[in-house]
Amino acid sequence: MIVAGIGPGNPDYVLPAALRVIREAKVLVGGSRALSDFAVDGQRTMTIRGDIPAVLSFIREARTESDVVVMVSGDPGYYSLLDALRRDFDEELLSVIPGISSVQFAFARLALPWHDASLLSFHGRRPSDEELAYRPGRIIGMLTDTKNSSRTIPKLLMEMGWPEDAKAAICARLSYEDERIVRTTLAGAATEKEETHCVLVVMG
Ligand SMILES: C[S@@+](CC[C@H](N)C(=O)[O-])C[C@H]1O[C@@H](n2cnc3c(N)ncnc32)[C@H](O)[C@@H]1O
Repeated sequence: MIVAGIGPGNPDYVLPAALRVIREAKVLVGGSRALSDFAVDGQRTMTIRGDIPAVLSFIREARTESDVVVMVSGDPGYYSLLDALRRDFDEELLSVIPGISSVQFAFARLALPWHDASLLSFHGRRPSDEELAYRPGRIIGMLTDTKNSSRTIPKLLMEMGWPEDAKAAICARLSYEDERIVRTTLAGAATEKEETHCVLVVMG
């Protein structure tokens, strides 16, 4: 089975190697947006919705007949279905094609090196207080979700001692035509238009 990263969304940012296996796949699995962007006639497809066990059992059944290509957003190695696939299938059965992570893309848009940054996810989880602790000069890039958004995370960080005037960048719809990047402060982010699907970068 091939797990292919498809980057932040715009097909221009998918590796040619991933595009090739996606195009040649007999069985293609992915989110509805990815399938409508990349699936071609004649492919057997399965849409990834909330029900991960159903996706896994579809793959288990489909791969007895032909190889399966699974598309995941961003990079497969960073909070994707790859985790669940590794629990269900032998490692030797998995071949991974990397993609550009939304976090990597956000740092590129901000022209900000990420070698010193901490990368955390609030997508369906909450990092520990220790991971979120303030230190002058600290940079954190974070994934968000509907509960932990570009408004609620800045409030949490300020409650934890981050200064109100620490820089913050809200990076939403990355790579799409309506990409929206707002450079502000933590206090500003807490009152800006709320983004639930974005990368939030804070600079202490
Ligand atoms: C399940 S995680 C997947 C992360 C993915 N594997 C990666 O490397 O980017 C989904 C989260 O990624 C972020 N994300 C994915 N695509 C994005 C985009 N185009 N613009 C902004 N954030 C994005 C959002 O925080 C979203 O809630």
